[in-house]
Amino acid sequence: MAASIGVLGLGLLASAFASYNIDQDVHLDTVGLLRKYGYPAEAHEVTTADGYILTLHRVPHSPSPPPGGRGAGARRPVVFLQHGLVCSSADWVVMGPGVAPAYVLADAGYDVWMGNSRGNTYSRRHTSLSPDGLFNSKFWNFDWHEMGIYDMPASIDYVLETTGEEKLFYVGHSIGTTIFWVMNSERPEYNDKFRAAFALAPQIYMGHIPQPLFRAAAYANKPSELIFKLVGYNEVKKGNPQNTIFGTICRHKLPYKIMCDNLIYFLTGYDPEELNSTMLPVLMSHTPAGASSKTLLHFLQEILSDEFQMWDYGLTNIFHYGSLSPPKYNVSKVTVPVAIHYSIGDRLTGKMDVDRLFRNTRNTIGKFQVPKDHFSHMDFVWGVHSKELIYDLIIGLMSRF
Ligand SMILES: *[C@@H]1O[C@H](CO)[C@@H](O)[C@H](O)[C@H]1NC(C)=O
Ligand SMILES: *[C@@H]1O[C@H](CO)[C@@H](O)[C@H](O)[C@H]1NC(C)=O
Repeated sequence: MAASIGVLGLGLLASAFASYNIDQDVHLDTVGLLRKYGYPAEAHEVTTADGYILTLHRVPHSPSPPPGGRGAGARRPVVFLQHGLVCSSADWVVMGPGVAPAYVLADAGYDVWMGNSRGNTYSRRHTSLSPDGLFNSKFWNFDWHEMGIYDMPASIDYVLETTGEEKLFYVGHSIGTTIFWVMNSERPEYNDKFRAAFALAPQIYMGHIPQPLFRAAAYANKPSELIFKLVGYNEVKKGNPQNTIFGTICRHKLPYKIMCDNLIYFLTGYDPEELNSTMLPVLMSHTPAGASSKTLLHFLQEILSDEFQMWDYGLTNIFHYGSLSPPKYNVSKVTVPVAIHYSIGDRLTGKMDVDRLFRNTRNTIGKFQVPKDHFSHMDFVWGVHSKELIYDLIIGLMSRF
């Protein structure tokens, strides 16, 4: 009795300490964050067919599972979360229990897995190539095409094998949706491995992206040169790019000072009610989490071409593809039931592009506009009210499959 009261006391002390000390969260990784808040966490390693070593993160169950026996030891449906551009698995946990999607889904009784795309903090390794040094170009020579045909199939196979499940749910954010469409159109046998998919702020067609800065970059005469100069050749580095790029602009007083403090919000949209500014140092310590510059450039190519197609080599397309323009991904090969979630405050996902994706998707669950006008791109993972606005809806939809 005394012992259990002692344990309870320690637990209360630990949780009080945890909720008041977010400074630590700046330094903790995905597993460290989950464990700090009392959730079981695992890291798994997956090697892709082309040698990239990826880390998957997992919350096998919640410490406080819902009634009805989806606790430790029980069989739980699997949900796989795939982050967006320059993000990582940390984005699904960084806002903490009760708010961040990984906790919300674990608490709802799911076995939660999180991918990490090649090149980010957790997946910056290869069996023979080095990401560092003068001769690292080979390592960084990839974009979301390879994430779709190599990373995601390897990750999904690993999760199904480890859990013994036949199918899983997929939740992708931003380029996490692009990867899903690439995989299921290029390797259609993977369609059978999903119960349903939820596309948050999808980036399949990008011809109508609302953010004028990305348009400008795409239309600039030599977009590749511009971007390479901004981000450094081959790797988009982890760090604080606003200090160098927007530092000059933001020294002046602007109406939304906070947009300047934070490059990501400046580029993707800003809803003051969804951004918990106390958490900003924590968010910025985890994001950007690294990527290849080619991934960004492929994204810019999509803005110009207004097509969902493979990497454009320009004059040498004929040698790579046997045609003058790159092949288009055949989206009608994607047969998984898909729900599309978007918002009109999102500066990266255009409404017309969403409508086109919805029209071209064969098996749709629905198209859901977030009922909040300023809700923006990163709010899908970081938003203070993302549980109420998005994940409660997704959990409800999942129960149909
Ligand atoms: C913002 O984050 C802090 C630190 O985690 C938390 O104490 C506070 O309740 C949050 N505010 C809102 C509006 O969610
Ligand atoms: C795209 O895939 C569909 C379904 O498999 C097929 O009927 C169609 O011929 C394909 N289109 C092209 C251009 O390959």
